Amino acid sequence: MKKGLFITFEGADGCGKTTQSKLIQQYLEENGHETLWTREPGSIGLGQRIRELLLFYDGDVSPRCEAFLFLADRSQNIEHVIKPAVEQGKIVICDRHTDSTIAYQGYGRGEDIIQLKYLNELATGGMKPDLTIVFDVSTEIAQLRVGNEKDRMESAGIEFHKKVRQGYLEIAKQEPDRIKVVNADNSIEEVFEDTKKLLDNIINQ
Ligand code: TYD
Repeated sequence: MKKGLFITFEGADGCGKTTQSKLIQQYLEENGHETLWTREPGSIGLGQRIRELLLFYDGDVSPRCEAFLFLADRSQNIEHVIKPAVEQGKIVICDRHTDSTIAYQGYGRGEDIIQLKYLNELATGGMKPDLTIVFDVSTEIAQLRVGNEKDRMESAGIEFHKKVRQGYLEIAKQEPDRIKVVNADNSIEEVFEDTKKLLDNIINQ
C-alpha cells in the first residue's frame, strides 16, 4: 500500500504555526507532493460542532470534559481524514494533534499526563506523526500576537499559557526523534526556512 507522511504542527496560541503550516503546504505542492491540510479541533462534520463547543461555549466546562471533547474530535479526524489520506500517499499536515492535549490539558490544566497519553492512543488507534514541529515562542510575544479578541482557550490567562509552553518543551525533550523545536520568535521568513529544512530532511530520508 502507498504510504504518505503524517506531520503535526504544535505550539502555544499565537506561535504562528497556522501561517507556517499553510506556507509549507504550498511549498510541498509546488514541489510536486500531494498534500492535505487539516486541524484539530474541528476539521470536518461533527468535528466542527465539537470545535464550536470547545472554543465558544460560555458555561462551565470541567477540565476532564474538555479533554474528552478534544479526544472525541481527534478520533473522528484520524479515522475520516488523516488515515485515509496517508494511505493514499498524501503528506498530511495537521495543525495541532495529540501533543496539544498533553500540553494544554496535561501541563496546563493539570490532568494526569500518563492517563492522557493512553487516551490519546485510544483516540488515534496508535497512529503517530512521522514528524512533529513545535513552534516555540515567548509567552509575551505570543499574547501580543493573539490580540484582544480571545476564544475560551486563549482567555485562560498568562500563567496557563506559560505552563503550556513549558509543557511543549518537556514533551520535545522526551521524544527528540519525532519532535523538533523551531524558534518562533523570529520573522515569518526565518521560521519558514527552519521549518522547510525539517520537512526536506524527512522527505528525503
Ligand atoms: P484554534 O483557534 O485552532 O487555535 P490555534 O490557531 O492556536 O491552533 O484553537 C484551538 C485551541 O484549542 C487552542 O487554544 C489550543 C486548544 N487545544 C487544546 O487545549 N487541546 C487540544 O487537544 C487541542 C487539539 C487544542
